Amino acid sequence: PDRDGTRHFALTMQRGRSELLPGRPVETWGFNGPHLGPTIRAARGDRVRMTVTNRLAEASTVHWHGMRLPAKMDGGPHQMIEPGGTWSPHWTIDQPAATSWYHPHPHGRTAMHVYRGLAGMFIVDDGDTPELPSTYGVDDVPLVLQDKELAEDGSPTGDVLSGTFGLLGDRMLVNGVHAPFMTVRAERVRFRILNGSNARRYHLVFGDGRRFHVVGNDAGLLPAPVEVEQVSLSPGERAEVVVAFAPGEQVFLRTVAGGDDIDEGDFDLLKLVAAQRLTSSPRLPARLAAPAPIVVPANAGVRRFRLNGHDAINGKEMDLSRIDEVVPAGATEIWEIENTVYAHNFHIHEVAFQVLDVDGDKPAAYASGHKDTVYVPPKSTVRLVVKFGGFTDPVTPYMYHCHILRHEDSGMMGQFVIV
Ligand code: C2O
Ligand code: CU
Ligand code: CU
Repeated sequence: PDRDGTRHFALTMQRGRSELLPGRPVETWGFNGPHLGPTIRAARGDRVRMTVTNRLAEASTVHWHGMRLPAKMDGGPHQMIEPGGTWSPHWTIDQPAATSWYHPHPHGRTAMHVYRGLAGMFIVDDGDTPELPSTYGVDDVPLVLQDKELAEDGSPTGDVLSGTFGLLGDRMLVNGVHAPFMTVRAERVRFRILNGSNARRYHLVFGDGRRFHVVGNDAGLLPAPVEVEQVSLSPGERAEVVVAFAPGEQVFLRTVAGGDDIDEGDFDLLKLVAAQRLTSSPRLPARLAAPAPIVVPANAGVRRFRLNGHDAINGKEMDLSRIDEVVPAGATEIWEIENTVYAHNFHIHEVAFQVLDVDGDKPAAYASGHKDTVYVPPKSTVRLVVKFGGFTDPVTPYMYHCHILRHEDSGMMGQFVIV
């Protein structure tokens, strides 16, 4: 922190070389390094200032996915950084503990910029629940899941804007590494899992079918741990899970195929090898420091969004100069997302929401917490209760969009302002 208490973070978008396959260095893009970016960590109440420098050969942006902040600081397609340029957003962190992330958002180019490797985690602390594992890199471990299509020479290939969904790769990378392993040294490990893929939806399980606990969703902790054997994440979604290990055992974190177009194939993601001696971990607490549930107000306003095809919402293709929705500051509204075709998802900048129902059914208990991105199954309607913040700006919009990046880039996105 500097004298007035502001914490400074510097991110440089740059090209570099890394080995997605061992021994085969190829061009990748990253923040402050050749691939992906550092985990940013800040606490509620912190004043933060980011210095984002663009050393790429083309313009880009950095969006703070999951952050509650003024629209001018959001890093959407209106805050472009030219090559050689710098952008310095600043805000005060004021939101519950959560696992957020950051990635570029240049309109029409997001899929390519993320696929090249521009993405990183942004962890918000808020007094946390002390019994949750929290030693970063030891028993509190970020996992960025991405799939790639790699050529013989190891370089990422494929057209991220082709076909219905863009690219679904058959090489799974975790934190930028193919076929990784991790030595587990504690009895319980918390994984902060981000689906950072362009299109793929993951159904995460352990190779031996063991059960584990979900403790957090995109935008905050759950009120209590939820025991599961599988967690599904569509692009942009996050889950915090706690997994128990026995000394000396080995198990894979895997993804298994679902019945959709964007979740084909079974893949090992991460080999976990428990040491012979594990440090003891506290028992999982019965209650967690969850944010208060978002209550649907009487006479809540309802907005309807219709997804059909892959390049428009409510029949309109994204237009940077058109404001689609005007939301009153601090409002709580119902947003109804109707999907008339194949798989999509839906992300709203700036907000936290909870899923009311999916085709009339309550969401899975593990996905009932505060979120900012939701899977919208084919031919279904998802209803959300959305809590907006109080940063008003009648001119600068926030985005909502499908987070399948091929869809986002081709126009399945809209803009709202808070007034
Ligand atoms: Cu993670 Cu508008 O995106
Ligand atoms: Cu976002
Ligand atoms: Cu979509």
